[in-house]
Amino acid sequence: MMDDLRTKYLSQIDTASTEAALEDLRLAAIGKKGEVSLAMRSLGKMTPEERQIEGPRLNALKDEITSAIAAKKAALEDAALEERLRHEWLDVTLPGRGGARGVAEGSVHPVSQVWEECTAIFADMGFRVAEGPQVESDWYNFDALNIPDHHPARGEMDTFYMHRAAGDDRPPHVLRTHTSPVQIRSMQEHGAPLRIICPGRVYRADFDQTHTPMFHQVEGLAIGRDISMANLKWVLEEFFTAFFGTKVRTRFRASHFPFTEPSAEVDIQCSFEGGTVKVGEGDGWLEVLGSGMVHPHVLRAGGIDPDEWQGFAFGMGIDRIAMLKYGIPDLRAFFDSDLRWLRHYGFSALQVPTLRAGV
Ligand code: PHE
Repeated sequence: MMDDLRTKYLSQIDTASTEAALEDLRLAAIGKKGEVSLAMRSLGKMTPEERQIEGPRLNALKDEITSAIAAKKAALEDAALEERLRHEWLDVTLPGRGGARGVAEGSVHPVSQVWEECTAIFADMGFRVAEGPQVESDWYNFDALNIPDHHPARGEMDTFYMHRAAGDDRPPHVLRTHTSPVQIRSMQEHGAPLRIICPGRVYRADFDQTHTPMFHQVEGLAIGRDISMANLKWVLEEFFTAFFGTKVRTRFRASHFPFTEPSAEVDIQCSFEGGTVKVGEGDGWLEVLGSGMVHPHVLRAGGIDPDEWQGFAFGMGIDRIAMLKYGIPDLRAFFDSDLRWLRHYGFSALQVPTLRAGV
């Protein structure tokens, strides 16, 4: 009789397909009025000898059924979880479904877009992306770049200075006024030869139609044994042609930066006909960046021997070239967070700029 109970319950437990069915089986077997429980109650009517044999056997059966139910329950839970995982997955890389108007809710800001485009183009020419802090020491932002204390360039930069605690008379930190301090940090970290770009935020206390207190630059730096201005010109023309999708001529005008010698400001060819700027045609010129051959003092500050190494550097306004490429008239609108503007000028999160697809 006991063997029958054992076979019956173990096989039913084995084929139970829901937790509810398992619970029914538990009640039917070892619940208060379950068959095994009733059999246990009948022990009292047995002879002591019988009871000594049957008692432990029934207890063992009860344990066996209890653990079979527990095991089956765990298996059912695992299967249920597997099933959920199979159905309830979510592709977090998918874009949003779009709001009430059926327009995707989020868009990529033109600055982010152009930042990525610059990265893609320069990466293709072997430049790695470098980073540095936005709160910078005055040594990195100025001294190391051959702008000593009291140099007029410090005043011209409209620098934001950070406060020091009262009594602390070390020079204050600054909000970096350009991405050039990352030149020094990269030289110190990697030495020569070196090829980096640094896209990033920069700050100057200046606000009008063409200036915002925070804006974006991309710094470029290439150091090798015989890198020249000719390489600089090739890299920049290559960049602008890829960026604007049309052959763009550049014009180098002699200029001055403390951290480069010689220095040049670079204009790109454009036409201003009909009130719109068209890059790559016409006989007008538009200034887009500062550049030059890295000053020996700067190489030395970065721990690089200027008798062995030389290179070029440039710094370009990302917002500026974004306005030119995408026909955005007012710089200040970049930072207004006006949803209508963002919907109009923003980019799809799925359109990751790649050189192959054309940026
Ligand atoms: N740092 C300069 C600026 O912000 C640009 C520049 C970078 C010029 C590198 C020359 C070389 O105006």
